[in-house]
Amino acid sequence: MLNSPTEEIKSRLDIVNVIGSYIKLQKTGANYRAICPFHSEKSPSFFVSPSKQIWHCFGSCGIGGDIFGFVMKIEGVEFKDALKILADKAGVELKKEDPKISTKRQKTYDICEFACSFFEKQMESNAGIEVKKYLNQRGVKEETIKEWRLGYSPDSWRALSDYLIGKGYKREEIEQSGLALISEKNKFYDRFRGRIMFPVFDINSRVIGFGGRVFKDKEGLGAKYINTPSTIIYDKSQTLYGINNAGIEMRKKDSCILVEGYMDAIMAFQSGFKNVVAVSGTALTPLQLKIIKRYTENLHTAFDMDNAGNSATKRGIGLAQSLGFNIKIILMKEGFDPADILTKDKKEWEEMVKGAKSIKDFYFETALSSFDKNTLEGKKSISKEILPVIKRIPNKVEQELWLKDLSGLLEVRIESLMEELLKINEELDFSLEKEEDKKDNNEKEKKTKKDILEEYLICLFLRKPEMLSIVKDEDFLFLTPKTSDILKILKEDPKKINMLENQNITALLIKSEFEEINEGIDREIEKCFGEIKKDFYKKELQNITLRIKKEEENKNEDKIEELKNDFNNFLKIFNQL
Ligand code: CTP
Ligand code: MN
Repeated sequence: MLNSPTEEIKSRLDIVNVIGSYIKLQKTGANYRAICPFHSEKSPSFFVSPSKQIWHCFGSCGIGGDIFGFVMKIEGVEFKDALKILADKAGVELKKEDPKISTKRQKTYDICEFACSFFEKQMESNAGIEVKKYLNQRGVKEETIKEWRLGYSPDSWRALSDYLIGKGYKREEIEQSGLALISEKNKFYDRFRGRIMFPVFDINSRVIGFGGRVFKDKEGLGAKYINTPSTIIYDKSQTLYGINNAGIEMRKKDSCILVEGYMDAIMAFQSGFKNVVAVSGTALTPLQLKIIKRYTENLHTAFDMDNAGNSATKRGIGLAQSLGFNIKIILMKEGFDPADILTKDKKEWEEMVKGAKSIKDFYFETALSSFDKNTLEGKKSISKEILPVIKRIPNKVEQELWLKDLSGLLEVRIESLMEELLKINEELDFSLEKEEDKKDNNEKEKKTKKDILEEYLICLFLRKPEMLSIVKDEDFLFLTPKTSDILKILKEDPKKINMLENQNITALLIKSEFEEINEGIDREIEKCFGEIKKDFYKKELQNITLRIKKEEENKNEDKIEELKNDFNNFLKIFNQL
């Protein structure tokens, strides 16, 4: 063992593998880049340096760090939990923690894990054997049951709770893990009783919650599925069932098939379609889409096609569209879900995936099958269905192609359709997205043009410190003190820069490796410095203009004259730059 478990873990894991298991990394030279998972952006400004074993985002969030920082941020966990995750990955054993001091989060994971193996063991009981038979009948193989850790919750009020209390957990802890309830009369009882248990895993295959399906004589009584409520580790809106198995496949195939149910995901996986995740009966959320986006931008949806399913599909498509996904829709026969088809005929499913419709065909076909395009009412209804979708298309060319087709189909002039298009307000609620965008924009504004230019200048000088000889002492006036300090150190002795223990400098060092420099560095430095000077004089000129306005209010002619002189002098320099 090295000095500490953190060092041991770091020495065993490679940052590229760790981060690469969460997001899609692209090799550029000696380093890797990616779309930053922590803010929304179109071009990749997130970098990973294998040689330095650090990551950094040069976009608006500007954060960076080591593998621990990354896992904390992306999983939204404390350091201790990140340590546990990475220790498992690295095969480093941590000292057994005293349950009293383990974090609440860790306890919840442990409780869920105990519960999961408890439910698994129940599969050996008489009732459990019935469950297995039932699942087998539905086409679920023995090994699939094991792999997905399916289980059975005994039909008793306290079986699981008693087991967990025996393990040393408190009632409140069990309740807060979502596995038990406390009644008004202060009675304590298991949430899942007599149900087929589907554990829900996070990306690292840790159990975070459960879905319990009714079984046998209870069929028809109560909800078909009961689910873990929100807990400290489980939030339905950002969970994708099957993500632990599907992640790598989604990246390999560069596509994701999105289904609705637990059974759909399991059957797809068993049949060899492994890039499948389920939303578990909730409407697709932006958070879920963001997770998928870490793996792929190509999305196939296979949702129920009854009326509710249809509108849910459309909402999901709208959302995915606005997040820039390429979407195909797998048309489901009414009354059948992917699991039904996969059990019956694998080939048929394969054909359905291959024959998935583009959004355009999907909308045109569903609208045409619901309304009569030959009547006025029908034409209106069809355009009412399709125009909002057209409105959301970001690409103008694509938008026009849709409009042309719609115009041909309805025998209506394209101009009239465009007029109608203008009347539509975005009716779908993407408020969450918008809020986030706003945040991003605000953060972007924090970095001024000057900041960006100065960062670039430092990068350039890091590449070629000799060039610092062209910087005269008075030139430092144009720079912020922070930048001046760095450049002065660099000018004195380039080696000293490595001794500055500063995340910012480290980041800039990596950035300098990434900068693609088109012309020679010398020329680029001159240009960049010129820009900085221009920016400086522009600000001065704006300043003087403001002051002149003020003096004009005061009618202070002498002062005005003086300022105007300054203005002209500065302008002359500015124009020569
Ligand atoms: N679901 C839920 N609560 C319900 C019904 C459904 O949470 N009362 C979720 C479950 O995650 C379920 C999914 O919605 O997997 C899809 O529902 P459904 O199609 O009714 O169930 P299936 O998964 O198809 O289950 P089965 O085939 O066993 O009927
Ligand atoms: Mn089903």
